[in-house]
Formats: sequence, C-alpha cells, structure tokens
Amino acid sequence: MKRVSVVGLGYVGLTFSACLASRGFKVYGVEVDERKRRLIAEGRSPIYEEGLDDLLRKAASAGLLETTSDFQEAIMNSEITFICVGTPQKQDGSVDLSQVESASREVGKALKDKSSYHLIVVRSTVPPGTTEGLVKRLLESGSGKTCGSGFGLCFNPEFLREGKAVEDALNPDRIVIGAMDERSGKTLMDFYRSFYLDELPQTIVTNPVNAELIKYANNAFLAMKISFANMVARLCEKLPGADVNVVMDGIGLDKRIGRSFLRAGLGWGGSCFPKDTRGLISFAERLGVDLKLIKAAVEINEEQVDHAVSIAEKLLNGLKGKVVSVLGLAFKPGTDDVRESRAIKLVERLLEKGAKVKAHDPKAVENARRILGDSVEYARSVEECLRGSDLCILATEWPEYKGLKAETLLELMRNPALLDCRRIYDPKDLQGIKFAAIGLGGSP
Ligand SMILES: NC(=O)c1ccc[n+]([C@@H]2O[C@H](COP(=O)([O-])OP(=O)(O)OC[C@H]3O[C@@H](n4cnc5c(N)ncnc54)[C@H](O)[C@@H]3O)[C@@H](O)[C@H]2O)c1
Repeated sequence: MKRVSVVGLGYVGLTFSACLASRGFKVYGVEVDERKRRLIAEGRSPIYEEGLDDLLRKAASAGLLETTSDFQEAIMNSEITFICVGTPQKQDGSVDLSQVESASREVGKALKDKSSYHLIVVRSTVPPGTTEGLVKRLLESGSGKTCGSGFGLCFNPEFLREGKAVEDALNPDRIVIGAMDERSGKTLMDFYRSFYLDELPQTIVTNPVNAELIKYANNAFLAMKISFANMVARLCEKLPGADVNVVMDGIGLDKRIGRSFLRAGLGWGGSCFPKDTRGLISFAERLGVDLKLIKAAVEINEEQVDHAVSIAEKLLNGLKGKVVSVLGLAFKPGTDDVRESRAIKLVERLLEKGAKVKAHDPKAVENARRILGDSVEYARSVEECLRGSDLCILATEWPEYKGLKAETLLELMRNPALLDCRRIYDPKDLQGIKFAAIGLGGSP
C-alpha cells in the first residue's frame, strides 16, 4: 500500500505527508488553503519545523507529494486516506468539528465511485464517539456504502510534539489504532508495517472510542504534570533556598513519576493542551462528569502569566513606563506557532500594565505580528531587544537565549534585571543583575 492521501496539510498533515514521501510513499495532499498548496508544491514549508523544508524539497523533486483541492483525484489515486484537519475550540470551550465534518462529507462523496476497498483514518483529535458517530454517518451517506464492507474506518491519534514533529513522526513512542472492525485494523497495521518495516513501534489496537479517549487523557495528564510543577513552584518561591527544579529532579527520579513535563514556567500553550483540556472538560460535563483535576490544572495554568507579571511588577516597583524586553514569542522553542502562546499573553498583560515592550523571536515574529500588530517593537537581534531596557523576561527557551551573558545585560540594559520564566539560567552566572525566576525561593 504505497499510495496515500492526506486531508489537511497543517502541522500534523504536512509533517506526516513529508515523512511518508521520505520513505517512498506517493502522497496526495488535499488542502483547502491555496497559498499553502502552492508553497508545498514548490517544495517549501508554510510552517517552521526542523527538517521539514529538506524533506519537502526532496519530496517535490522526486514527485512524491502532490497537492490538490480535489478530493476525487486524491481518493481515486490512493488506497488509504488520513484526515488531519484542525479541531479548534469554540467560544464555549467545546470542540469545533466543522473541518472534520466538511472533510468527511467530501471524502464520502469521492468514495462513491471507488470500486475497490478504501480505508479512512481519522487522525485529528476528536471527542470520544466522533469517529463511530459523525464521521461514519457522513462517509456512509456521501458514498452510499456501508462502513465495514464498502470502506474501512479507524481513529488513529497523532502524538507528535511541535518543534520535534519530524523526529516524532518517524519514531513515535507508540501507535494507537481504534478500528471499527477487524479488516480496518488489519489494513492500518499492514500500512504501518510497510512504513516502519523492522522498527514498528509498540501498537495498541482497540475500538475508536478508547483510542479517542487515549488521546485526550494523554494530553490532560501531561498538562497536569506542568500545572503540578507550577503549583509546587509557588510554594518554593515562598521558601528561601528552595528551587522547584531541584525538587522536580528529586521527584522525577521516581520511576513511577518520571521527570518529563515536570517543568515549572509560564505554563502550557500551543494548539493542543489548551483546547484539548477544555474540550475534554466540556465533553465530560455534557455527560454529567466533573473532571476536577483537569479543571484545577487549567486554573493554575490560567494564573501563571499573571503571576509572572506580578513578579515583574515587584522587581521594577511597577511597570508603567518601563521598557521590558521579552525573549521568545513562539509557544515553545523549535516552532513558529504562536497559537495560545503564553509569551503572547505575557506581552498583552505587560502592555495593559503600561510597559513598553520590545520582543525577539528567531522564527515566530511574523505570526506574532498578526496578533500583536504594532503594539510591540520587534527586535532583529537579542542585543537590539535588550538595549535600553529595564527588565528582560525569558518567555520561550530557544537554545540561542541560553548563552546570554551577564556582561551583555550589564552593557546594554538601562537597569539590568532578568526574570527567568523557563528556568534556563543559573543565578550564579548573573552577578550584578537583579534576578528572579519562577519557582526559585527568595524571588519577590
Ligand atoms: N499541532 C500539533 O502539535 C498536534 C499534535 C497532535 C494532534 N494534533 C491534532 O491534529 C489536528 C490537526 O492539527 P494541526 O495543528 O495540524 O492543525 P492546522 O490548523 O495546522 O492544520 C489543519 C489544516 O487543515 C486544512 N483544512 C481544513 N479544512 C479542510 C478540508 N475540509 N479539506 C482539506 N483541508 C482542510 C486547513 O487549511 C489547515 O491547513 C487537530 O485535531 C489537532 O488537535 C495536533
């Protein structure tokens, strides 16, 4: 099974398509956004993700990735279709399934004329019951066929991390397959065997509802770990000598817990945790289930930016009229994605408090500008960002910020002060600088 179609060429669909092409699969990418289609067809990535540009260039020159807006063409030329469209959040916190709906309707119509078996795989994160309900219904009504005999259907969640998307797509921890029936599950397993060859990751095959819930519960648990670290960080800040990083190192060595995601800082942002935690809470509420732990994790996360701003206020005795340099705007390093970025929220709060904000990011300025407009001065270098400022706030831990030296701050800033919101600096290296950090005892 070497011919694949992918619907939706965003962070997930594009990375997956490029990785498929890199292993010799022929991919038909269906995308509604013409600008993205054009760029991808030229072998250029509309998003920043390490290694992606290179894979796309090679895919384009080998003729292994074709972009189209025509579902019929994509379905007819492939044996398996992955639906990777967005599932954003609605105003009320519930999941907006309109992209999944329109993609399923179009795939259903295109399946009508297909005489051979075709497998549809939902890869977008969708609430439990969506694959078996909405998606199956639209595919059946559009195609006039019956799921199980006319076509196959699975839910197969994506676990990639932005910033490491290519690496994760090629080497995932595990594969979860939620199959509607045996043939669908077997077809998808065979596909992954042909993709991963001897290195097939651990695989769980279950029903769609379990697989859908695995994805939400997985993200909710990781989000809880971050909020747990931020909760302990608050306590550490009140205890002279305490340091949340050391406490988390100690906890993380417990094999039952593990160190990853126990990272105190500004909290989580991005395109997944915010919408998936709220989506799960809202979904459970409709079933009469109160997800108290996840609600608390969201609440802690919501407070974290304001908490950082209050530390900044104390450091400078008020922010009105002060110049603040914010390092990092992307929601995490390695990506240009600013969706729900805590750094953007931080900038907005600083502006509300009357500060003048200068900001720097190696990749995300263009996307940040769409939200923040000209309310901020965008610096082309770290040095330019720091010049004449009263406080530097490290908001996104890009590797290039790690080497920032005390001498540079002392030389360029009006009042050298640093607030480390991602815990990448050692206070010992910052002699002469007014310093505070999330989760560090003795911070104001
Ligand atoms: N971004 C991540 O790190 C990540 C990780 C795991 C899972 N997910 C999930 O994967 C899904 C996709 O996420 P994303 O970040 O790639 O979203 P995205 O918004 O970056 O990409 C979605 C793409 O689908 C296109 N699209 C929308 N409707 C379409 C249609 N009817 N036909 C064809 N194309 C259509 C959009 O134009 C867009 O390019 C979401 O459900 C998300 O929760 C995302």
